[in-house]
Amino acid sequence: MNTAYENSSLRNPKPELLDKTHTAGRNNSLDGLIRSMPSLNTVSVETDCQIHGKQSWLVTKIVDNAHNIECQKCKWERDAYQNKVQNMQADLLASLEIPSEHINADFSQWSVGGDDQIRARIANIVNFSKEYAASYRKGHANILLTGNTGTGKTKLACLIANEIVRQCYYAQMTVAFKRSGQIQQEIKATWDKGSSDNDTAYIERLSRSTVLIIDEVGEADTSFSDKAADKDRERLSAIIDRRYQLRLPTIITTNMTADEFYHQMGDRASDRLRQNLVDISCVWPSYRILTGKVRSL
Ligand SMILES: Nc1ncnc2c1ncn2[C@@H]1O[C@H](COP(=O)(O)OP(=O)(O)OP(=O)(O)O)[C@@H](O)[C@H]1O
Ligand SMILES: [Mg+2]
Ligand SMILES: [Zn+2]
Repeated sequence: MNTAYENSSLRNPKPELLDKTHTAGRNNSLDGLIRSMPSLNTVSVETDCQIHGKQSWLVTKIVDNAHNIECQKCKWERDAYQNKVQNMQADLLASLEIPSEHINADFSQWSVGGDDQIRARIANIVNFSKEYAASYRKGHANILLTGNTGTGKTKLACLIANEIVRQCYYAQMTVAFKRSGQIQQEIKATWDKGSSDNDTAYIERLSRSTVLIIDEVGEADTSFSDKAADKDRERLSAIIDRRYQLRLPTIITTNMTADEFYHQMGDRASDRLRQNLVDISCVWPSYRILTGKVRSL
């Protein structure tokens, strides 16, 4: 009998299983009572575990294969670990820095409108997105979402990220959602004298995110001069380049056409992205306009 169990924090037996070690300390009358209860129908089962050694268990209900029962300490530890991972996954989903309307959202919140042709296209895109998320891994394709304002590019990118967390979560998973202008601002903030960060470390950290969404590339350019805008592009390109080296996919949204985007990003970044890229052009009416309420007074 393994005495280590006495110190274990995982000592709450499941209702159908009682560890003899645990029952041994009880007063005799209670043990007697338990044993005399015919409805419990107990059977003694031995387990021999590489980690926890030999254990003896009272199984209080006849299970089909009582003599093949696994070490219950292993099972409790595994259940506790799975619970912990599930909680961490839920915490990550709830804390993603994506627009609040997309926190915890899923594809059931994506409505499909338009004529038959548009509906079929959108259904195809949604199917692809779900499969992409379910099989997310290193070396997976980059995604470029292009199209007019209000067509759901940001929403789709966020739904994909949420689904990746749901389907592929692991304890060290990190998800970053950044507007392109925000990346520039945050890099520039590292140049402040008081900052404990530096731009190289920032770019490396962001590049290493398991999932990275760069939203609104080409929008809200924070630079005043062409030269400064070139520097902004260089920094974005450095992130794309680094992720390419790390074989980590990047999801990008932009109002530019794909060609304008490639031109804007320059050959180096565009070539790397296009080596494995799914280009989704969201050519349908703006959801904001379709569902918006405009009143004239
Ligand atoms: N298919 C859809 N089903 C439900 N809501 C949608 C759909 N498409 C867009 N929306 C909603 O419409 C609004 C605009 O969508 P979103 O911000 O994703 O558009 P966008 O293409 O990123 O626009 P922009 O180019 O201006 O950034 C959001 O509130 C979003 O939740
Ligand atoms: Mg958007
Ligand atoms: Zn064990």
